[in-house]
Amino acid sequence: MPLVTMKQILDDAIEKNYGVGAFNINNMEQTLAIMSAADRTESPVILQASRGARKYAGPVMIYGLVQAAMKLYPKVVVSLHLDHGNEPKTCIEAMDDGWTSVMMDGSLDASGKVPANFAYNLKVTAEVVQEAHKRGITVEGELGTLGGVEDGHGADTVILTDPDQAVEFAELTQVDALALGFGTSHGAFKFKATPKLRYDIVEAVNKKAPKLALVSHGSSSVPPELVAIVNKYGGKMPGAMGVPVDQIVNSIDYGVRKINIDTDLRIAATGAIRKLFSEKPEEFDVRKYLEPAMQAMSAVVEDRMIAFRTAGKASGIGAPVSLADMAKVYKQDNAFPKMDKINAVK
Ligand code: G3H
Ligand code: 13P
Ligand code: ZN
Repeated sequence: MPLVTMKQILDDAIEKNYGVGAFNINNMEQTLAIMSAADRTESPVILQASRGARKYAGPVMIYGLVQAAMKLYPKVVVSLHLDHGNEPKTCIEAMDDGWTSVMMDGSLDASGKVPANFAYNLKVTAEVVQEAHKRGITVEGELGTLGGVEDGHGADTVILTDPDQAVEFAELTQVDALALGFGTSHGAFKFKATPKLRYDIVEAVNKKAPKLALVSHGSSSVPPELVAIVNKYGGKMPGAMGVPVDQIVNSIDYGVRKINIDTDLRIAATGAIRKLFSEKPEEFDVRKYLEPAMQAMSAVVEDRMIAFRTAGKASGIGAPVSLADMAKVYKQDNAFPKMDKINAVK
């Protein structure tokens, strides 16, 4: 099966009230771990690669890894998404590289560190939608910012999303999916105490824009048992804390459809590798420590696919809709940015 658009997967999730994990990939081990879990659980899946991933492995390698994994697991319904595109140029490069979905994160400026204003966000997001929808490609935007500065995209400022502004943003830009600030945060050190997600924000947007796929970034739960393995075998992650899985699952019932997870797989792999090195210090065959890392990541993905009710949904999605057909639908629906209104916003 060819790559599908993220919209095709998320439309099914909206219709049937489930969530879809979007897992970050940088290498073969992560790609196989995620794809094999999707195959075992018969789940659709979103593979996402950040700017950092595209720099690390190169877009050709990432795209090739995904194509190879799709040959190994032909029944898996999969979309390839650009995570946290920082400017239109990055998004257009990913479209040219074969990505079937892109995120234009205009909640921050092009540095990826400084919160941007509403007018800037509208302008850059509209520029990406204009090009992407012509090609049948899905676009995710973001309004509001998450805390948690990692080496990638993220500001140290938390701005919760204003639901009315989110609805206006979606109508004006015609994005397919929108990431909200509602209490989640990137990375392994999200909070000092257990968070309380603001479901009311998700619910308010969902009520006014039920066809808009809402996105939860920073959704790793940083499982204490996996952090304990890292710390037991020489790691140092004191105070690591994430969003409990049950809170993410609750957010699905309020309208969250795409759930971004990167950190949990990093922690799972790191713990497995540290354990192997500690127990077998004589080992130096890369396969001997990457194999347990792959298994540990795959187990986390499988757990989330079951918890988010993605398991078993692959067969209901139907035949892949080509980019050309998706482009026709966007044209028919006039799903292009409302430029007159956008230009009037100061
Ligand atoms: O939200 C960011 C993702 O975890 C990707 O991280 O930019 O370090 O690849 P990265
Ligand atoms: P985590 O750091 O919680 O895994 O979030 C990942 C993410 O939001 C990628 O865009
Ligand atoms: Zn993110």
